Amino acid sequence: MRIFKDEEKLSPEFVPQYLPHRENELNMLKTFFSSIIDGRPSISTRVIISGAVGTGKSVLVKLFGQTAVSEALKKGVDLKFLYVNCRISRTTFSILRKLIEQLKARLPERGLSNEELFHKFLDYLDYKGLYAIIALDEVEVLLREEGPEPFYLFSRVGEERLKIPRISTIFVFRNPEVLDALDASTRSSILGNIIHLKEYDYNQLYDILKYRASLAFMHDVLMDDSIHLIADIASERGDARYALDILWRAGKYAEAENASKVTPEHVRKATASVYPTIRREHLEYLEQHSKLILLSLAKALDAERSAYVTSSMLNDYYKMVCEEYDVEPKSYTSFWEALQRLDDLGIIKIRVVSEGSKGRKSYISLPGIPTSILKKELEPLISSKQLRK
Ligand SMILES: Nc1ncnc2c1ncn2[C@@H]1O[C@H](COP(=O)(O)OP(=O)(O)OP(=O)(O)O)[C@@H](O)[C@H]1O
Ligand SMILES: [Mg+2]
Repeated sequence: MRIFKDEEKLSPEFVPQYLPHRENELNMLKTFFSSIIDGRPSISTRVIISGAVGTGKSVLVKLFGQTAVSEALKKGVDLKFLYVNCRISRTTFSILRKLIEQLKARLPERGLSNEELFHKFLDYLDYKGLYAIIALDEVEVLLREEGPEPFYLFSRVGEERLKIPRISTIFVFRNPEVLDALDASTRSSILGNIIHLKEYDYNQLYDILKYRASLAFMHDVLMDDSIHLIADIASERGDARYALDILWRAGKYAEAENASKVTPEHVRKATASVYPTIRREHLEYLEQHSKLILLSLAKALDAERSAYVTSSMLNDYYKMVCEEYDVEPKSYTSFWEALQRLDDLGIIKIRVVSEGSKGRKSYISLPGIPTSILKKELEPLISSKQLRK
């Protein structure tokens, strides 16, 4: 029995034409950017989108971008939607390169400071009479690594320089609390209209699953009970990615068994193999030392048979793992920074406990995935050859 019509329609990268329960937010975005879509902006627009994992931030931004570009085009406005994921492009410079690449502009990149390069980018927009909406997704890592510079650059510099505001920005945060750590002037250069996406509830997840299933599955193979069960399981987290991941795997189980329906039993099996806090794409894009640290954590938790290890104990394991892979361990400071990034990504949890006169200790745990699975996922990604490069 054929189960899937087109399983790609369940992948996290696919952008559907319709987002159930995000219609209001999509309309808000259209309203905020309407003067740009019309090609007569008087000021740049800045929007922040925030929301927990799997609340549809990325897909909302991408769908909005597509819609905005095609509506602008109908009005004869040359609008570009430039999307960069900061988890992948981690520095201001690599973001700039991504922006320029998407414009297909040939700009000299060497020997220029970030600010000079950004001016070239703006010159290009001016020269071609283009407008651009720059969307930076998953910006917390960027904020930690680069500080306020990129935000200042993208939201202020353009405004101050150009007579016609050619660029507008959308910043996507998982946790807007990181903004609190900024000084007032940076905060004011980032802040704009805020759209917060709430976690999906049971009924909303049901609608989302039903819609995406209609694109992905053959007619009538997915039992309605199965959708209810997935909505139920995922509603604890309100996470649509988790829901769709279970749906896809349930379909895969049904396919492997040559079953004629995707049953609740397939859903149960799928649920047992999906770990919502860990995304494979996250693991792949981690820098090598973060992978080594995660592997050390899995080993340490295993060996100690405990829920937590202290950061200093983890550092010892990390050094052992580095020896095993024949690489130089990073300094304790870099090790600690990498731990914080892993915490930002939601892969590990750091709990800092003050222990009276002994000072503070950090306890690290791995809440969302068994160590055995993590090791299995990580080991193929860490090859010693790559590490020595
Ligand atoms: N309202 C919706 N309708 C249909 N599909 C949705 C909806 N919301 C989210 N999805 C789907 O759920 C998955 C997760 O959404 P998305 O990647 O946008 O989440 P996110 O908020 O960016 O999460 P993260 O914080 O992990 O980046 C994607 O496959 C997306 O297409
Ligand atoms: Mg996202």
